[in-house]
Amino acid sequence: MTRDEIVAKYKQYLFPSVTTYFTDALVTDHASMQHLWDVDGKKYLDFFGGIVTISVGHANPRVTTKIKAQIDKLQHASTVLPNESVVALAEKLATIAPGEISKSYLTNSGTEANETAVQTARTHTGRFEIIALRHGYSGRSQTAQALTGQHTWRASLPGAFGVVHAINPYCYRCPFGLKYPDCGVKCAHDVENVIQTSTSGAVAGFIAEPIQGLGGFITPPPEYFKIVFNIIKKYGGDYISDEVQTGWGRTGKKWFGIEHWEVTPDIITAAKGLGNGVPIGLTMTKPEIANSFKGLQISTFGGNPVTSVAAKAVIDIIEEDRLMDNAHTVGQHFREGLQGLQDKYELIGEVRGMGLMQGIELVKDRKTKEPAPQETNRVLDEARRAGLLIGKGGLYGNAIRMSPPLNISKADVDEAIRALDKAFATVTQQQPTGAAAR
Ligand SMILES: Cc1ncc(COP(=O)(O)O)c(C=O)c1O
Repeated sequence: MTRDEIVAKYKQYLFPSVTTYFTDALVTDHASMQHLWDVDGKKYLDFFGGIVTISVGHANPRVTTKIKAQIDKLQHASTVLPNESVVALAEKLATIAPGEISKSYLTNSGTEANETAVQTARTHTGRFEIIALRHGYSGRSQTAQALTGQHTWRASLPGAFGVVHAINPYCYRCPFGLKYPDCGVKCAHDVENVIQTSTSGAVAGFIAEPIQGLGGFITPPPEYFKIVFNIIKKYGGDYISDEVQTGWGRTGKKWFGIEHWEVTPDIITAAKGLGNGVPIGLTMTKPEIANSFKGLQISTFGGNPVTSVAAKAVIDIIEEDRLMDNAHTVGQHFREGLQGLQDKYELIGEVRGMGLMQGIELVKDRKTKEPAPQETNRVLDEARRAGLLIGKGGLYGNAIRMSPPLNISKADVDEAIRALDKAFATVTQQQPTGAAAR
């Protein structure tokens, strides 16, 4: 099929609510490590990795060889018949999970992982109400939509009940109009007020992303989650860390984003980067909490032998190649490059993130901070023209999100910065020749 035929059939046969990027949709053909090619043969440096999912490179042969061998041996068994691949993965997960977390529930997506986490906290505590954060994203089921704190992703139907939203740590646009650190991290302390005024006072738990992904890589001040954790514990809830985007070394140095904030969660959810492209969802918790889950359950594809060998291979590569360290070092280099662009282009209001999870928020005016969503779309289009794929997000559609594979080099970052410089220059009609063009 030609590019145009694929686009036409995509429009004709798929739900239009399933949104695509770019003014002219990019039709993918093949990919290898940090590169992706479209059907017209154009090569791109992929700095979004299929929505923060390609952690060790597209079609990494160290993963795909194992997938192929497993497909030929045993492709499916279901949760009612144990297999070696799933226990090898679960055992490995238990060794890297923080604190007492050692039991896994494997499913197919981040949405399912969060559903399972909320169910688990509810059955464990015998309570119902969950605190989530504004600007967060938790997935597309009714519960996950209810947890989500952005109207754009929950417009279809009323979400499930039993969720209230606290103010998120969005320092660039502080809802209290305060400045860190003089604010005393008021947004964190306000969670207690939310519990006292918007719930029965006895909550099942709290769920948050250590860095809000779809929210536009909103990064909290270091004390935020520690303060919130203590409040949640005071009111008897379980703490759920949604590591769907921040897990598996993405933020540098640590396996999980929450580990940067000195909080040991009760429950962790993950997906995306764990599978490097195979569909997987994971809910992990302490034995005491896992054992409180009542009734019988199956997950037809949960712990599938093919996805399990893929996930185990991904973890092994991250460990063997010290990719958490690489994410930190190369991430710092990336951050410096982005700050160089910020010095040059007024359009860039803030640069934020950690490791190889870096975002930039675009504003029409740095004083008023009026969001610049049209310019964001144009930067995406122009970066694509310059051979770089990036993502976007944010409640106002004005945040650029970048999450390359964890095994990229500084040279890849330099290439990305040059492409971004070109894109910003075109959008702002400046020359792409400044210090940022490294
Ligand atoms: C933080 C977070 N949680 C949950 C999800 C839902 O994951 P999935 O799309 O695999 O259902 C996403 C998806 O983007 C996410 O970013």
